[in-house]
Amino acid sequence: MTQARLQQLREEIARHDYQYYVLDAPTIADAEYDRLFRALADLEAEHPEWVTPDSPTQRVGGTPASELGEVQHSVPMLSLGNAFSDEEVEAFDKRVSDGLTASGALAAGAAPAYLCELKLDGLAISLRYEDGHLVQAATRGNGQVGEDVTANVRTIRAIPLQLRQPVPGVVEIRGEVLMFRQDFERLNQAQGERGQKLFVNPRNAAAGSLRQLDARITAARPLRFFAYGWGQVDQMPDVRTHSAMLAWIADLGVPVNDRRRVAEGAAGLLAYFTEIGEARSSLAYDIDGVVYKVDSLAAQRQLGFVSRAPRWALAHKFAAEEATTELLGIDVQVGRTGAITPVARLKPVFVGGVTVTNATLHNEDEVRRKDVRIGDTVVVRRAGDVIPEVVAPVPELRPEHAALFEMPTACPVCGSAIERLEGEAIARCTGGLVCAAQRKQALAHAVGRRALDIDGLGEKLIDRLVDLGRLTSLADIYTLKAEELAGLERMGEKSAQNLVAAIDKARRPSLGRLLFALGMRHVGETTARDIARHFGSLDAVLAADEHAMMGVPSVGPVVAAAAVHFLGEPHNREVLQSLLGECGVEPQAEAAPAAAGAVLAGKTFVLTGTLPTLTRDQAAQRIAAAGGKVSGSVSRKTSYVVAGEEAGSKLTKAQELGVPVLDEAGLIELLGDSN
Ligand code: IVH
Repeated sequence: MTQARLQQLREEIARHDYQYYVLDAPTIADAEYDRLFRALADLEAEHPEWVTPDSPTQRVGGTPASELGEVQHSVPMLSLGNAFSDEEVEAFDKRVSDGLTASGALAAGAAPAYLCELKLDGLAISLRYEDGHLVQAATRGNGQVGEDVTANVRTIRAIPLQLRQPVPGVVEIRGEVLMFRQDFERLNQAQGERGQKLFVNPRNAAAGSLRQLDARITAARPLRFFAYGWGQVDQMPDVRTHSAMLAWIADLGVPVNDRRRVAEGAAGLLAYFTEIGEARSSLAYDIDGVVYKVDSLAAQRQLGFVSRAPRWALAHKFAAEEATTELLGIDVQVGRTGAITPVARLKPVFVGGVTVTNATLHNEDEVRRKDVRIGDTVVVRRAGDVIPEVVAPVPELRPEHAALFEMPTACPVCGSAIERLEGEAIARCTGGLVCAAQRKQALAHAVGRRALDIDGLGEKLIDRLVDLGRLTSLADIYTLKAEELAGLERMGEKSAQNLVAAIDKARRPSLGRLLFALGMRHVGETTARDIARHFGSLDAVLAADEHAMMGVPSVGPVVAAAAVHFLGEPHNREVLQSLLGECGVEPQAEAAPAAAGAVLAGKTFVLTGTLPTLTRDQAAQRIAAAGGKVSGSVSRKTSYVVAGEEAGSKLTKAQELGVPVLDEAGLIELLGDSN
C-alpha cells in the first residue's frame, strides 16, 4: 500500500515536471507541487530501502568530485557554420537546393524545407539514456571528448531521469543548458547578498553552475534545458524529418523549445529570422541568433559535413550588439612590433553580455575618419566574443570641451620616439627591444606554443621578470634558475622546477621554430620553416644575403630585406651568439615537409570576408583536403586567418592575438600542390 503510494507520488511529480518544463503549462501551483515533493521525501525517509536513483528526491548532488572525468562522444558533437547577412543565408539555401536538385532528391525549382530553431545562448550537452534511464551527461568539450557532468545534470529538474516511454538501448539527446533571465537576476541578487561573486550574464552563470565539482551547488542553481538534436540512437523511431524527431524527443519527456517551425526556401528562413529578432527581447532567455536545418533526414545524410560542421545547417547570428557610453580618454598601447594602437577608455557600459571599459580605435586614421573626440558620447559595439570597438560618436551629444586625439610623439612606455612611415597606417615606437612593452610581447611570442613552446612562462610572469630587469633578451630566459623563480609571487617550488625543465627542453628547438621565435617582421611560422629547410643550419641562414634569402620559395624582396636586416643587427647577433654559446641552445634540422595531401595537418584556419576567386566553401574544402581544419572563431589556437574583402572583426581579433593573416594567394601558396 505504502509502496504503491510512493510510486504514485513519483509519477505525479514526473507528470508535473513534464507539464511545467516540456509543455510549459503547469496544472498545479508551486505550493501544491512542494507538498507532493515533501510527502515523497517523508515516505522515503521512513523507507530508505525504497529510494532509487531515479527518484525526484535524488536531484540533490552527492559527495563532491575531485575533478570532472572525460567522456568520449560516441558520435562527435559538431558546430555550426555562421551567417551574418541575408546574402549568406541565400547562398546557403542555394548550396542546399543545388546539391539536392543535382541528385534528384529535390524537384527542380522546388524550395527545400528547413526546420528553424532559436540559437540558444547556453552550453551544449549530450544526455545518454540507456533503456530509458539517464546514465551519463557530458559537455561538448572539443567535440570528440567532453567533460562528465552526470552528477550535475541529474540535479536539473527540466531533464528527466527516466524517459516517459521505455526506449530500449541507447538514446543520446543533445541540446543546450541555459538559465532563464529572471532566474539569473534572482541568483545574482542572492549571490550579492551573500557577498559572493556575481555572474556577468546568464550564459556564464549556466556554464559556471554546470561545471561544478560539487553537484550540490549545481542543484541550487535554476538551470534549464532544451533539446535540438541527438547522437547515438540504437532504435530510431519511424521518422523522416528533423522536426518529427524533435517531436518524438518531446514525447519522451525532454523539453524542446516551442519556437521551432518548418519554413521553405531562403525567403522562409529570412521571415523567421525577422520574426524572432522582433520577439527576442521578450523571450525569457538569451539567444544569439537562429539556426536553420534541412528538415529531411535523408537530405541531411546526402549533404554531409564540411570539416566539423554540417552542410545541412546554418546559424544565422544577430547583428553585433551596440550601446552608447562616454569616451573618457584615449590611451595608446604598444604592440610586439612597436605598433601603437589608440584605445578608448570608456565609462563602463554593459554591451554584448559583458561590461566594457576599453575598446579599440585601431589606428590614428580611424580616429580621424570616425571623428571621435574625447568627451564624446560614443557607440560601442561588441559582437559575440570579439574585441569591443568604438563605432562612431553621437554628434548631437558632443560637449563643448570635446578634445581631438593627438598621437603622442614619444612612447608612453619607454619614451622613445614614435614614428609613422609614409604610406603606413600604423605609427610605431622606435625603441625596439629597449622598450619594455615590446620586449615583453616579443618574449611572450618567443616562448609561445608555435615557437619555443615553453610551458609555464606566461605573460604575467614575463611582465614580472622584465620589470625586475631579469629578462632583457631571449637569451636571459635560458639562465633562469629554479631558486630565483620559486621566490616570486604565486610561484611554488614545484612550478619553478617544472618551468626550468620546460626551458631545458626548449634547448633543442627545430631551426624553424627558433627563427620564428625571433619575431622578425614578415617572418611567420611557415616562412621561418621554409628558411630553415632551405638553408639547413643557423650558420647558413646567418651567412645569407638578400639575394640568397630570396632563393627560399616563399620569400620575396620585402621579407628577404627584413630578415637579413634583422639578422645583421649587432644586437640580434649578440643574442644569437649567447643562445648558441652559454645558453646551450642547439637548433635541430627542420623535418622534411609532410606527405602531400596532409600539408596542413594539425592546422586550424578561420575564413573571413570575401576572397577574390574562391568561395568560402571551396576554400574550406581545399583546406580540409590538405588535412587542415576550419573553425568559425579566432582564438590563440588558430593557426591562420584567411581574410578577403570586407573582413570584419575576425581580422581585428587575429591582429590583436598575433595570429598570422593570409590573403587568398597566401592560402594557395600554403596549400602548395597538395590539391
Ligand atoms: S545544432 C549539428 N541547434 O550552437 C550541429 N546548436 O555553433 C550541432 N546551439 O555547440 C548544433 N542553439 O551549443 C544547434 N538550435 C540549436 C542551437 C545550437 C544553440 C549552440 C550549441 C552548439 C553551437 C554550435
